[in-house]
Amino acid sequence: MLKIAVMGHGVVGSGVLEVFYKNRAAMERKAGTEMDIKYVLDLRDFPGLPYSDKFIKDFELIANDPEIRVVVEVMGGLDPAFSYVKRCLEAGKSVVTSNKELVAAKGAELLRVANEHDVNFFFEASVGGGIPIIRPLHACLVANQIDEIAGILNGTTNFILTKMIREGMSFDDALALAQQLGYAERNPAADVEGFDACRKICILASLAFGRHVYPEEVHTEGITQLTLEDVEYARAWGGVIKLIGRAKRLPSGKVEAMVSPALVGNDSQLASVDDVFNAVLVRGDATGDVVFYGKGAGKLPTASAVVADVVDAVKAQHSSTSLRWEDNPAHDTVQGYFDN
Ligand code: HSE
Repeated sequence: MLKIAVMGHGVVGSGVLEVFYKNRAAMERKAGTEMDIKYVLDLRDFPGLPYSDKFIKDFELIANDPEIRVVVEVMGGLDPAFSYVKRCLEAGKSVVTSNKELVAAKGAELLRVANEHDVNFFFEASVGGGIPIIRPLHACLVANQIDEIAGILNGTTNFILTKMIREGMSFDDALALAQQLGYAERNPAADVEGFDACRKICILASLAFGRHVYPEEVHTEGITQLTLEDVEYARAWGGVIKLIGRAKRLPSGKVEAMVSPALVGNDSQLASVDDVFNAVLVRGDATGDVVFYGKGAGKLPTASAVVADVVDAVKAQHSSTSLRWEDNPAHDTVQGYFDN
């Protein structure tokens, strides 16, 4: 039985437990082994919650327990997440995280530590919530030279802009709603000032271009200065305002990256990306443009990406089990049909 620890029981952490226990049997089949969550680390008390016997407050229990093979970090922030994650990797445990701030600031270092200790450091949930984008970039698109990545990378600001554009809602009311729905960061300034989108474009650019792009190198502007008049102006012009993150490989080999509000014409695919949805366009020299689209924030979409990384981290010890399926000697597949 492979044992897992989850560090953090906020929106994403509670979603990880929900998704894990709902789909555990199927995941165990894919992973090729039985798995269970042994600890949930959080300094707060959660009386009456299911699995309350798993809650602990002392990180050392995780770090020093040889039974724990995979650790999920969904606490957010740099401190103490960075030191905890590094300790776990050094102790030979694979780590899965949804923490954009951590990966954008310390990704190169943590990947190096993981490599040195022959374990995995996975972060699919750090960009695009439930949208697969990290793995496609470093696996499915690996045969391409990536020239540009651009898109809507923050669900909260896209939700706010959608409410302003489609319903004339004020910025403050739309932000309050995004917080209620669990989309916004603990400190929503990270969303509305563009820092969250900046961290995400840094992660994507680092992966695509092969060298760490740091947030402080990226020009970043959020949406706090936008008014309903700007929204009207965009409508009259024939488009909408979106917060766009973009990174490009320049002919010099340098990387140019920025985050800012942009006027997007109604004929662009990005104009119809509404609410909490994200869309990421990746321009490969062999594939041309590939667009990834889906829910970019929220408890269950993000938890889905975290738990998938857990299965992948486990599979690394049971390689290619996910490419297996059962034989069907009776050929009892039912033929479906579509009305239209
Ligand atoms: N606050 C983030 C967003 C959460 O709104 O996109 C997902 O990273």
